[in-house]
Amino acid sequence: MKAIAVVPAKKEVRLIDHEEPRLVTPTQVKLRILDVGVCGTDKEICAFDYGTPPSGSEWLVIGHESLGQVVEVGRGVSRLRIGDLVVPTVRRACTHAHCRACRSGRQDFCLTGDFTERGIKGQHGFMTEWVVDDESFMNVVPSGLRDVGVLVEPLTIAEKALLQLRRAQKRLPWMTSLEEGEPIGRGQKAVVLGAGPVGILGAMALVVAGFETIVYSRDPAPNKKSTLLESIGVGYVSSETTTVDQLAEKVGNIDLVYEAVGASRIAFDVMRALGTNGAFVFTGVPGRKAPVEVDTDLIMRNLVLKNQMVFGTVNAGRDGFEAAIADLATFVTRWPAAVRSLITGRFPIEAHRDLLLGRAGGIKNVISMKASA
Ligand code: BGC
Repeated sequence: MKAIAVVPAKKEVRLIDHEEPRLVTPTQVKLRILDVGVCGTDKEICAFDYGTPPSGSEWLVIGHESLGQVVEVGRGVSRLRIGDLVVPTVRRACTHAHCRACRSGRQDFCLTGDFTERGIKGQHGFMTEWVVDDESFMNVVPSGLRDVGVLVEPLTIAEKALLQLRRAQKRLPWMTSLEEGEPIGRGQKAVVLGAGPVGILGAMALVVAGFETIVYSRDPAPNKKSTLLESIGVGYVSSETTTVDQLAEKVGNIDLVYEAVGASRIAFDVMRALGTNGAFVFTGVPGRKAPVEVDTDLIMRNLVLKNQMVFGTVNAGRDGFEAAIADLATFVTRWPAAVRSLITGRFPIEAHRDLLLGRAGGIKNVISMKASA
């Protein structure tokens, strides 16, 4: 079957002929891959910044944002049926007995770092025609989300952040009684850094969570993304025309900063403007560049005197995937055109070079396996 793989030892990215997987345990399912999203991580793997083939393999099949359809189920499969649409989780547990995270099914919090990730680290990914994996990693997507289901995985980043934020902000005495399903952001203001797919999906999730939301990004407005964001009630402010201090003045108390830009200089600059009792959430993974100057005294004073909190978040567990599927359905009901416009191109697998190595524009580009059949 066709697959897109990197061969790190030879610094090659190519379309390969990869062996079609078969069910080997009773609880496995086989998927026909429908769509695979291309993200920054895939491009970094193709630039050989990271990406580790499975042991014994020269290549790594890439791709971790996917939507598949169940075509075969093992005898022991109870939750899935042939024809179901599913999005598999990405991370697989380490094998250490003492890893409390992995042993409790929460490899997204793995303590040892010896987890694997499909399409990223130690396990082949989804940029191929067929995939086999255990049913426990599958998240069922309603058939009505067929055209946008590939956005589930990138949306899980915001969902995991929100699930943690919910628990963490219960530290505030008046938040402890927040009930299941009650929007956490009501009456609060959030600033999203960056208008890439993670930023836009994050902004959508924050609006649904009740936050008054502003995206702070580089490109001057109006532009395609600012228009899209404004159409869903999210403000857009360009860092080219508005300084961080002006932003802070405009917003008032910033209750949440959701960083989705992967650039530390701007992130720490905005950290100065975080409000009282506010939370700053990092999701980006910057490349290592030269150190930058940061006003650490101011940041430390604010953290203490304003009861602030900072945390980072990576990957997601089943709860994050389920929240993403539920939110995506809400987005499609509330903003059908805006959600669909996030997918700016669908391409056959043969077009992978431009998408992975070129400067393909757009918001989220998708390799559609049907288009290559
Ligand atoms: C993926 C995560 C993964 C992370 C680090 C991201 O692009 O969405 O699932 O954990 O990269 O490898």
